[in-house]
Amino acid sequence: MSDGKSGLQLRSLLKKSGELELSLVNIPTPEPADDEVVVRIEATPINPSDLGLLIGPADMSTAKASGTRDAPVVTAKMPEAVMRMMAARLDESLPVGNEGAGVVIKTGSSDAARALMGKTVACIGGAMYTQYRVLKVRDVMELPAGATPADGASWFVNPLTALGMTETMRREGHKALVHTAAASNLGQMLNKICIKDGIGLVNIVRSKEQADILHKIGAKYVVDSTAASFMDDLTAALVETGATIAFDAIGGGKLAGQILTCMEIAANKTAKEYSRYGSNVYKQVYIYGSLDTRPTELSRAFGLTWGVGGWLLTPFLQKIGPAEIGRLRQRVAAELKTTFASHYTQVVSLQETLQLSNIAIYNKRSTGEKFLINPNKG
Ligand SMILES: NC(=O)c1ccc[n+]([C@@H]2O[C@H](COP(=O)([O-])OP(=O)(O)OC[C@H]3O[C@@H](n4cnc5c(N)ncnc54)[C@H](OP(=O)(O)O)[C@@H]3O)[C@@H](O)[C@H]2O)c1
Repeated sequence: MSDGKSGLQLRSLLKKSGELELSLVNIPTPEPADDEVVVRIEATPINPSDLGLLIGPADMSTAKASGTRDAPVVTAKMPEAVMRMMAARLDESLPVGNEGAGVVIKTGSSDAARALMGKTVACIGGAMYTQYRVLKVRDVMELPAGATPADGASWFVNPLTALGMTETMRREGHKALVHTAAASNLGQMLNKICIKDGIGLVNIVRSKEQADILHKIGAKYVVDSTAASFMDDLTAALVETGATIAFDAIGGGKLAGQILTCMEIAANKTAKEYSRYGSNVYKQVYIYGSLDTRPTELSRAFGLTWGVGGWLLTPFLQKIGPAEIGRLRQRVAAELKTTFASHYTQVVSLQETLQLSNIAIYNKRSTGEKFLINPNKG
């Protein structure tokens, strides 16, 4: 292990030529300011949002490995059609990794910073695929006694997003919710929150294996979008729960429209009188992921009382403010090993993260195939 004065950092560079290059660079660790700490990062997950920056829509069938075992380089072609969307990042070597956890090895002079010396902390702020990260005290959270960096690595993005969904549901006047790609890491957390808090949750999955995962956790409503009876199954679950808000991680294709259609049918089942404009029950779908990058298709069979919008964690947190964020963070800390536990299939070093065989697995974003990077492994 190095002394922390410098360390490796994973970078993603998209060149104007359309070539994506992933590599490791050695960077000096800056001196911490008064209110900063230096964290030796020991665990950081590879989530779909990290993959969006790391690889994005690059054509990985063209991927080539070069460099050395200690300093691997991966290159791949970015399809011509998406280059225009990438204008803002061209020829910029970008660090990756939204969140992580590790041990504080050096601090600034403030009391709050010094109190963290030697502590195991969870961190947010980007550039986590790195050996040493300098962070403001407000961007780290001391983990509860006995929690390891691996326990705390996914403490922010998925837990706060799942909590953000139930908060949004309440704030916007809905009483139950729908979630898609529902056996995801985030979806499993959402089920545990809803079971604990007594909130109705309709899970949409695309296989029996995913349904089994959720039933094992205790999920009551799980519908399979590949079943012939999908629309009927979804409508029945919506009637029972009264869910009128959905969070859709998939985004592309027909699903968002199907959810609104079933919500409209469910609302009309209990409507007292017919309206040619459709039901007056407000129905909302928030698209919060892009697992399917095709266009969103809405065949508008659901009246005119509906909305489809985007939902992103950062603006939501800005909206609720520091006191509420603190309350949600405390809940995550208290339930880190239960409600918000994440599971990983492999722990890899920065070099192993750039092995083509590993990229082929984690870039699939499959259920239960999450990788954890330990930048200081070995
Ligand atoms: N907006 C925000 O602020 C925010 C914050 C956090 C997370 N997110 C989003 O939340 C989602 C879940 O994240 P996670 O870390 O929990 O994911 P994860 O554990 O890696 O799971 C991904 C899930 O998506 C499914 N999936 C992948 N491609 C799909 C497709 N084309 N159609 C349908 N299902 C598909 C997978 O099922 P299969 O095994 O069947 O492929 C798997 O169950 C991601 O989309 C992420 O970007 C958004």
